[in-house]
Amino acid sequence: MELADIKTIAVIGAGQMGAGIAQVCAAHGYSVALCDAAVERAETGKAGIAKQLARLVDKGKLATDARDATLARLEASTAERAYPRADVIIEAATENRELKIALFRDADRLAKPGAILASNTSSISITLLAGQTKRAERVIGMHFMNPVPVMKLVEIVRGLQTSEETLNVIRGLGEKLEKTLIVSHDRPGFLVNRMLLPFVNEACFTLEEGTGTPEDIDQGARLGLNHPMGPFELADLVGLDTMLAIAEVLQRELGEDKYRPSVLLRNLVAAGWLGRKTKRGFYIYDDQGNKIGRSV
Ligand code: 3HC
Repeated sequence: MELADIKTIAVIGAGQMGAGIAQVCAAHGYSVALCDAAVERAETGKAGIAKQLARLVDKGKLATDARDATLARLEASTAERAYPRADVIIEAATENRELKIALFRDADRLAKPGAILASNTSSISITLLAGQTKRAERVIGMHFMNPVPVMKLVEIVRGLQTSEETLNVIRGLGEKLEKTLIVSHDRPGFLVNRMLLPFVNEACFTLEEGTGTPEDIDQGARLGLNHPMGPFELADLVGLDTMLAIAEVLQRELGEDKYRPSVLLRNLVAAGWLGRKTKRGFYIYDDQGNKIGRSV
């Protein structure tokens, strides 16, 4: 498979990451099937993309014909319908090892022989996912950052079995999507989350110890470190369930106590306060997404 052979991309998982990936692929000329377990969820994902594009049109950043063309290239679908037609399948499901293993087995069974299977996983081993398939050399990590349409980076993750050819094709695809690419070997957390999780987790320990308020910790990162968001604001954007899942992978697979997820993070997830998507995480949000309070 060469870069020019890629015409159709299937994205599995129509949550915020999957929808963002589908939007960017369709905006750059690819035919995209956005899939989820139920087609209704994929329809909801597509409706969210239409809203994002409408916002860009309102701001004068996107022409209406470009919006229409992007939407025309995008369909809500299911794996059974979309996989056999796809040149690349990008998995962007919930950060759960068993689920991703099952999805990779399905994708390998349904996809055409030359298709590349990519995962947007934040921390799960690409080597493990590749090992579930009969095309391990054509399995790779394509780790997009949230919010996908805005963030410039894609972290490519090379599994032990990933071929040079697959790496080059996916590097080319990332460039076509106008992303800047970095390459990580397959180690827990790869490059970005290996740095991010200890940072957010340390902010949680600092809060648990009563060293400062969440607002001051976030302000410290914003103005003291020049980060666009503080650690709690960012965790609420990404999703606390995802943050916890990544922290657990780091702790389990690197085996060091310093990676243990804070009790506070565990408790917020146990309470179902998962961040912006549930309108409550470290902070509480109104229907418009404005911060109106804090949980702890
Ligand atoms: N989807 C699409 N566009 C969005 C968006 C979203 N969810 N959120 C914001 N934007 C756009 C806005 O429309 C705006 O566009 P414009 O400049 O064309 O008008 C632009 O982004 C800036 O937004 P705002 O002015 O509303 O707000 P900010 O200037 O505060 O920027 C932000 C918002 C881009 C989210 C910025 O705060 C930021 O960069 N935050 C850090 C994000 C980050 O670190 N992401 C990586 C997380 S780690 C990760 O994803 C890995 C995973 O595995 C955990």
